[in-house]
Amino acid sequence: MCGIVGYVGEKQAQDVVIEGLRRLEYRGYDSAGVALVADGTLATEKRAGKLANLEKAIADHPLPPATTGIGHTRWATHGAPNDRNAHPHPGADRRVALVHNGIIENFAELRAELETGGHLLLSETDTEVAAHLLEVEVESGADLTQAMLAVVRRLEGAFTLVAVDAQDPSRVVAARRNSPLVVGIGEGENFLGSDVSAFIEHTREALELGQDQVVTITRAGVSVVGFDGTPAVGRRYHVDWDLSAAEKDGHDWFMRKEIYEQPRAVADSLLGRRTPEGHLHLDEMRLSDQELRDVDKIIIIACGTSFYAGMVAKYALEHWTRVPVEVELASEFRYRDPILDYSTLVVAISQSGETADTLQAIRHARTQRSKVLAICNTNGSTIPRESDAVIYTHAGPEIGVASTKGFLTQLVACYLLALYLAQVKGTRYGDEIDQVMAQLEEMPGHIEQVLAAGQTVYELAREHVDTRAVLFLGRHAGYPVALEGALKLKELAYIHAEGFAAGELKHGPIALVEDGLPVFCVVPPQGRDQLRDKMVSGIQEVRARGARTICLVEEGDDAITPYADVVIRLPKVPVLLQPLVAVVPLQLFACELATVMGHDVDQPRNLAKSVTVE
Ligand code: AGP
Repeated sequence: MCGIVGYVGEKQAQDVVIEGLRRLEYRGYDSAGVALVADGTLATEKRAGKLANLEKAIADHPLPPATTGIGHTRWATHGAPNDRNAHPHPGADRRVALVHNGIIENFAELRAELETGGHLLLSETDTEVAAHLLEVEVESGADLTQAMLAVVRRLEGAFTLVAVDAQDPSRVVAARRNSPLVVGIGEGENFLGSDVSAFIEHTREALELGQDQVVTITRAGVSVVGFDGTPAVGRRYHVDWDLSAAEKDGHDWFMRKEIYEQPRAVADSLLGRRTPEGHLHLDEMRLSDQELRDVDKIIIIACGTSFYAGMVAKYALEHWTRVPVEVELASEFRYRDPILDYSTLVVAISQSGETADTLQAIRHARTQRSKVLAICNTNGSTIPRESDAVIYTHAGPEIGVASTKGFLTQLVACYLLALYLAQVKGTRYGDEIDQVMAQLEEMPGHIEQVLAAGQTVYELAREHVDTRAVLFLGRHAGYPVALEGALKLKELAYIHAEGFAAGELKHGPIALVEDGLPVFCVVPPQGRDQLRDKMVSGIQEVRARGARTICLVEEGDDAITPYADVVIRLPKVPVLLQPLVAVVPLQLFACELATVMGHDVDQPRNLAKSVTVE
């Protein structure tokens, strides 16, 4: 949800900022803009649409040289995505410029106050209000840091603000409340970014900021204060991936690259989880064994794809630990007045660690004395920081807006959590846990095998270029896979796609089936014969009504062939782990279909990677 960059140093700020925006564009691509401080004035350019439009505008009308600057790539909240509403926004006298991620909730009253005082606001954004207020402060003599402190105390809502003052090229100042911001620490230069990919090609040293803090970067250093003005210190850390992880590596899309990275990502997420004695060990698990033994209910909260990972987790957690599990959409959670207490473990799953719905849900859970464990892919992000414990997935940066390796590694983290709880609570014998761990360790090889057969799925996708609707059916752990397959198709191919629990079909959705409708069927492994047999009946029912059945079936299960128009083979794996292989062909299908339809796979319309507004 909006990408923000700030730079002060010796390099050309325009180059650093534009390059940073390119890496952050996945966060929002409704418009982009830069502001540079050059010879006591602001030089700005901004354009609706993708970053390429801004780059073209700058190529046509070059900006002056400058070594201090800020930039923004927008996912619109207040005001249409046009040039006028694009950031940066200047103050009334064009002395300060400001970029913003989030929502300023009391902007209407602040705007009215400014307009009464004679300010002419040019955009429909909440951001411009903050720019005007900031400029009022600097014009009355405050330095930019003091001015920012004065302004943030007046703002309500969630925001990251980053600003420059034309009369002070030595600094860039930022503020953070409930919205992401990290500092990149360089030599003779410093950076600000919504995440570390903004500056990864310049430095891998980063500083994590807390809530309600203002940070000032200069060439010489970084200083942090709380909104009340008291000095604060951030947590410094080293980023363990480099620029190559943020590049496409010869693939046409980040998403495709990320799909093919899944065997590695799953292997990395399993790495170092066992002691030499063979015990499971989760080093970021900050909850004691006794606290975990006291857990008598688990509530999983998440959004989108992460929610589907949570649905799979329920099967594994309940089966291996016998603890009841609820899975809830984070955006709904706190509004139903959930029953929580100290013995409830809330598990928040979030790839980005910044999703506002999930963040607000965990805050609610903590006020009810529940322990919160985060499953997250982004070191230093807000959700793990505000949780009692965290299991980091090790997928590396996920740039494609559609989550792929994020999902698979979330599944791995959920299995690890379930097995760890089973170990601590004694609900599974050690050798049973060993057996599942061994099966998990074989999964990267199985995923490779599915990817190796990718061409068949690509051809299938190309045959469906004129398709306007697709259904997905699954049962048990295959049901969330069906939902995820449908979500991938909706977000990438803009096709009407629905996932159903196969048993539910006859209660209504079967009315949607008509001649030629493609129906993907995730068939459970033969080992679960009852489940599988019921699935086969479901397949027969839709086929009898004209559906074109595309069946994902484990190798050796030939009984399904008479009812399948297309068979996609899956490796033989246990039913609870099947989502790790079954979802892969669905990802490939969506990626390829969207490609042949001519859509932007990495930046689908109306979406943003990290949704930092509720
Ligand atoms: C998935 O492809 C999505 N684009 C989206 O549903 C995502 O999973 C959701 O917004 C949650 O994000 P998070 O995992 O970063 O919290």
